[in-house]
Amino acid sequence: MQALQSYKVIDHEFDVVVVGAGGAGLRATMGMTAAGLKTACITKVYPTRSHTVAAQGGVGAALGNMGDGDTWQNHYYDTIKGADWLGDQDAIEYMCKNAIPAIIELEHYGVPFSRTPEGKIYQRPFGGHILDMGNGSPAKRACAAADRTGHAILHTLYQQCLKYNAQFFVEYFALDLIMDNDGVCRGVVALCLEDGTIHRFKAHQTVLATGGYGRAYLSATSAHTCTGDGNAMALRAGLPLQDMEFVQFHPTGIYGAGCLITEGARGEGGYLTNSEGERFMERYAPSAKDLASRDVVSRAMTIEVNEGRGVGPNKDHILLHLEHLDPAVLHERLPGISETAKIFAGVDVTKQPIPVLPTVHYNMGGIPTNYHAEVMRPTAKDPDAVCPGLMAIGEAACVSVHGANRLGTNSLLDIVVFGRAAALRAKETMRPGQPHPQLPGDAGELAVARLDKMRNASGALKSAKIRDDLQRAMQTHAAVFRNSQSLDAGVAKIRAVADSMQEIGISDRSLIWNSDLVEAMELENLVSQAVVTLVSAQNRHESRGAHAHEDYPNRDDDHWMKHTVAWCDLAHKTRVDYRPVHTQTLSSDVPPIPPKKRVY
Ligand code: FUM
Repeated sequence: MQALQSYKVIDHEFDVVVVGAGGAGLRATMGMTAAGLKTACITKVYPTRSHTVAAQGGVGAALGNMGDGDTWQNHYYDTIKGADWLGDQDAIEYMCKNAIPAIIELEHYGVPFSRTPEGKIYQRPFGGHILDMGNGSPAKRACAAADRTGHAILHTLYQQCLKYNAQFFVEYFALDLIMDNDGVCRGVVALCLEDGTIHRFKAHQTVLATGGYGRAYLSATSAHTCTGDGNAMALRAGLPLQDMEFVQFHPTGIYGAGCLITEGARGEGGYLTNSEGERFMERYAPSAKDLASRDVVSRAMTIEVNEGRGVGPNKDHILLHLEHLDPAVLHERLPGISETAKIFAGVDVTKQPIPVLPTVHYNMGGIPTNYHAEVMRPTAKDPDAVCPGLMAIGEAACVSVHGANRLGTNSLLDIVVFGRAAALRAKETMRPGQPHPQLPGDAGELAVARLDKMRNASGALKSAKIRDDLQRAMQTHAAVFRNSQSLDAGVAKIRAVADSMQEIGISDRSLIWNSDLVEAMELENLVSQAVVTLVSAQNRHESRGAHAHEDYPNRDDDHWMKHTVAWCDLAHKTRVDYRPVHTQTLSSDVPPIPPKKRVY
């Protein structure tokens, strides 16, 4: 009780507490509140600043608005293939089938989608989305609001939350889950950034919607807030993370700056070239070309650079061409990236190509859940055992609909479908206003002791230095291509970085808007996820999706068609185990898709 006693502690009771106010958190908050459950949404940034705001090109759903005859069964097939057969097929069926009502629902909530001349939601092609169960031409499946689709969805969902009078705790930094002795999650402890008070939120259901951890890398399209706080909380609560070796590199981050240039740019007709002016994707993916899935395009670009065909004085990047497109199309469909290219690359997209490079963009791995968004705590007896009282959604979760490689547009889809699924499940399983069991008086002591230790840390190393070491290790050793030697070195380096956290020093000891402290705690969160990522990558002896291992260049379904689950304790000691991939479907609407060679 020592640490708790030295802080002002405020207790709250809710039916549900949602941590995070990106698209997933807001969709869940809205649904839970609408279901009559007393719901709190706590968030470290103002809701409309959450990273969903940066999503650009579209949200996937086979509406068939462009007259191409697309079906959700095609979407299901493409997602399984895109995932390189590591995705759970029941969850993929759930997502692709529910995509259509979920998008219509968003339309009715007021999302300002771009329109076809007939007034339907506009849809564009995106990488890996193909008609006729992978055998046809590119499907026009990405429902777009110009190239600001995430912005449009996030703002609309926040407005809907306000309509239902959802209760927000804005600029509260979640510290840790409250777990009882039976392993049930009873809520969460958070720090109010404004005044340094500690808040204990008791809840029958806690929903982690805390996003990914892209900031474990030096160059990422992710916001600086993307530190995977929920994933780290899960690890500290003794829960595993799943498939963390699969980190997505988006082919077109702006060279140097890392800002995203949407895949929608290639969907509208953009293409990549090397130093010889060659449209090299024709060699790597003869059918889909520049619209192959992301891992394929990122690997092709990396090979071009490694083999000396990169552009620029250092021959270290690739060019994305849009200058052949009608300026009216650029203006109407791609205004955001036209502006970003001007600001961050000094390029007028109507006249010059954009310098680009594969850049970290998305974490396929995260907290394992079923398709109801319930967190799974696998045991030897039951790999799908549920952790009572805890859900996870969005990039924090590993449902697993993305398997080893996510298709573009499936992350905005994932957040709305599984944010909605969490609310539906809560409505089905909970009754509003049930009494809470008594919590031990010292609930949250460990979380606050951790905070207090960090606030008083007086070591010689600044967070910025340790973070730089961490990001450089990840950028070098958990890259597009990996090999055993580099992964072994990476694990050793990241363990040294983890040890160096003992030497951290904080210069601001105050409790009012202490960004020095919050950055250090975010860094602590990044460290455990980086350790798990590298250990999981070192452990997987095959190549699948985003995990391209030079010493094991082939996919090995006999030995490795299984999910990695990895634990990491407070001393960064790790343990790796496995869960089977769900190869069964939910219904007879679609057949299970057996693994086959993945070509585009
Ligand atoms: O390229 C993009 O617009 C990104 C979309 C996504 O990651 O789904």
